Amino acid sequence: MITSRRSFLRSLSAGTVAGIAVQWPLTGSSRAAGFDFSRPGQNDGVIQLNSNESAYGPSAKVVEVMNSSIGSANRYPRMEYNSLAKRIATASRVKPEQVLLGCGSTEILRMAAFAFLGNGRQLIQASPTFEAIEHYARAAGSEIISVRLTPGFAHDLDGMLARATASTTLVYICNPNNPTATLTPRKDLENFISKLPASTFVLIDEAYHHYAGQSGMYASFIDRPLDDERVIVTRTFSKVYGLAGLRLGYAVASPKLIQQMGKVATEDSINAIVTQAAGAALDDTDAINAFIQRNTDDRQEFFNQAMARALKPIDSHANFVMMNTFHPAEDVIQHFRRNNILIGRRFLPMDTYIRISLGRPEEMRAFWRTWDMLPYPKHSMQH
Ligand SMILES: Cc1ncc(COP(=O)(O)O)c(C=O)c1O
Repeated sequence: MITSRRSFLRSLSAGTVAGIAVQWPLTGSSRAAGFDFSRPGQNDGVIQLNSNESAYGPSAKVVEVMNSSIGSANRYPRMEYNSLAKRIATASRVKPEQVLLGCGSTEILRMAAFAFLGNGRQLIQASPTFEAIEHYARAAGSEIISVRLTPGFAHDLDGMLARATASTTLVYICNPNNPTATLTPRKDLENFISKLPASTFVLIDEAYHHYAGQSGMYASFIDRPLDDERVIVTRTFSKVYGLAGLRLGYAVASPKLIQQMGKVATEDSINAIVTQAAGAALDDTDAINAFIQRNTDDRQEFFNQAMARALKPIDSHANFVMMNTFHPAEDVIQHFRRNNILIGRRFLPMDTYIRISLGRPEEMRAFWRTWDMLPYPKHSMQH
């Protein structure tokens, strides 16, 4: 059932009356950035809680820069590429030759697969995790070894280590992990990396870095680098910066690894608008802090709503939440789809879990109303 935007909005406001009243917190720091969090999203009748995008960004300052950079759309942004790489290098406290930009961090994952895999060489990854590198590794002709997450949903580093051989040239660690939104402790990762074969590179995907919080469990490998030339860290502008549609990601690694990956880069894959918007996004620290705070509040509200229903989602360190429904995930996904809400795809082997990207308050109210319409007895969905 796809409805018009107008009837969809009508159903939203009707549901607001019928649904559970939510007092959405707006914190001081959220207001400080001057971002109007109540500005309606552009969802064209379908609520998109399926791709872990920012429901809010980009910030007003970034939009201004995007508008003013449109005039340069006729030019290849080669000089801008270099200035942005320098800007990211400064922010990451590395040399410019240690930074590589990609058309989304997905392009970096593709470059890593084609630079370091193929010819029977192996990739080790968690299961479930973000699948892009697996697809590219397969295309490059690699064997893929998937090791299930631990019962606490961290990477099973001992299990991964046990499978590593001289032909394992790449290990993929997604931290926080997509789809579980969980962390693997920093100290365990350090220990793991130190025990890997010398010929094994480790790609640490920090797409959700900004949401990971300040716990002692987590420290970015860009902010606190290891003295180890085998480590590649990737980040993206698609999440907290709200620029998923402009496609920009980057890698930070040793000059040698950056050079190897750069050989399989797509020429001129970075567009003229994002080279300028990204610099503004990095500079707008007030907005970043406000978006992080907004996500913390939205996440807390999700857990409040879940608790009110005696549900126990997996503790989240990202802008999405994974939750056991104790029913086939595909049926639950289809139920939401029939009600114009897209949630995450199936993530085998967790086939009774659903992944929900956090949306705006009105979108999340629609989510919970639709949840309450699931045709399952309530006790069958609780722990
Ligand atoms: C863990 C992870 N890495 C990388 C990406 C790719 O993001 P992008 O290509 O937009 O930078 C995603 C997208 O959702 C992701 O979840």
